[in-house]
Amino acid sequence: MQLNELKQQMTLPVIMAPMFLISNPRMVIEACNAGIIGSFPALNVRTTEKLDEWMGEIKSELEQRKEQNPGRKIAPWAINFISHRTNKRFTEDLQLIEKHQPPIVITSLGDPSPVVKVVHSYDGIVLSDVTTVKFAKKALEKGSDGLILVSNGAGGHAGTLNPIAFVHEIRSFFDGPVILAGAMSRGEDILAAKVLGADFAYMGTQFIAAKESGAGEDYKQMAVDSMIDDIVYTPAFSGIPANYMIPSIVNAGLNPNHLPANKKMDFSELGDPNIRAWKNIWGAGQGVGGVEKVQSIAEITEGLLEQYRIAQEKVIRDYNAVVKQ
Ligand SMILES: Cc1cc2nc3c(=O)[nH]c(=O)nc-3n(C[C@H](O)[C@H](O)[C@H](O)COP(=O)(O)O)c2cc1C
Repeated sequence: MQLNELKQQMTLPVIMAPMFLISNPRMVIEACNAGIIGSFPALNVRTTEKLDEWMGEIKSELEQRKEQNPGRKIAPWAINFISHRTNKRFTEDLQLIEKHQPPIVITSLGDPSPVVKVVHSYDGIVLSDVTTVKFAKKALEKGSDGLILVSNGAGGHAGTLNPIAFVHEIRSFFDGPVILAGAMSRGEDILAAKVLGADFAYMGTQFIAAKESGAGEDYKQMAVDSMIDDIVYTPAFSGIPANYMIPSIVNAGLNPNHLPANKKMDFSELGDPNIRAWKNIWGAGQGVGGVEKVQSIAEITEGLLEQYRIAQEKVIRDYNAVVKQ
């Protein structure tokens, strides 16, 4: 599938990003139904059997909706696959990708080439998420079709690069699909990504508080209530730096001002050994201020579309005002 073909099936250039413990089939189906790409991490299910069920459900439900609404734009779906040897289900899950043929596979970590081989055999697209130019070049050498630039401020395991400079550097040697990730939660942010030269915006945090999301009600409410100052970037919970909401750290009985600066903390030494990153310490990016209420994915997408439209009109108005002077 070519990029243009992909865009024709979408109402807004957005990929709803995969989120550990949050993404589920309902979210993916409702995102695609609203015209944005829906995705989920393969590891959100505990077994390959369950993953088979999830992929089958997404595929058949989307096919049904396409049949029922022939004129409607229903976006393709995507799965996030850890293409690293530490992924214990590497072979089994890759076989399921071959079976269900998701139109898009997003690879994280490691060499994407085994995934590329499978996905290209059925004309699918492989996008690799990267946090540095070095890894971007490696992913392209290994056959990835496009790059997801995970920049500073993103929810989850964010990079540290400035999104503006990152897109420019990538565009200096790559003219294929580029997706920008990091703290984009509003319609004008999507326009900004496109103006920079990206094809799509990759948004995670904005969808934490979706009605269909697998996050608990307290987690959703915290995302609604939190602002940029409530976010901390730390390796303390998973060993790799990630962005989390400070109130969830406080609720877990930990002091956010005394987290180890460059390593994973030992929870059993500090308090409750049952505390888990992502389950009790809740991830969100610096764009959390753009999460205003709990609403359905259809409503979120409509809101983004409206903000995107207003931003486009403003740019045209500003341009005309300058040209007419
Ligand atoms: C709670 C949470 C969990 C995440 N889990 C994953 C994951 O399992 N796999 C992955 O590739 N990215 C994961 N991400 C990162 C997102 O896919 C995406 O890069 C990020 O959300 C984009 O930035 P934004 O949150 O500022 O929109 C996660 C993000 C959040 C907020």
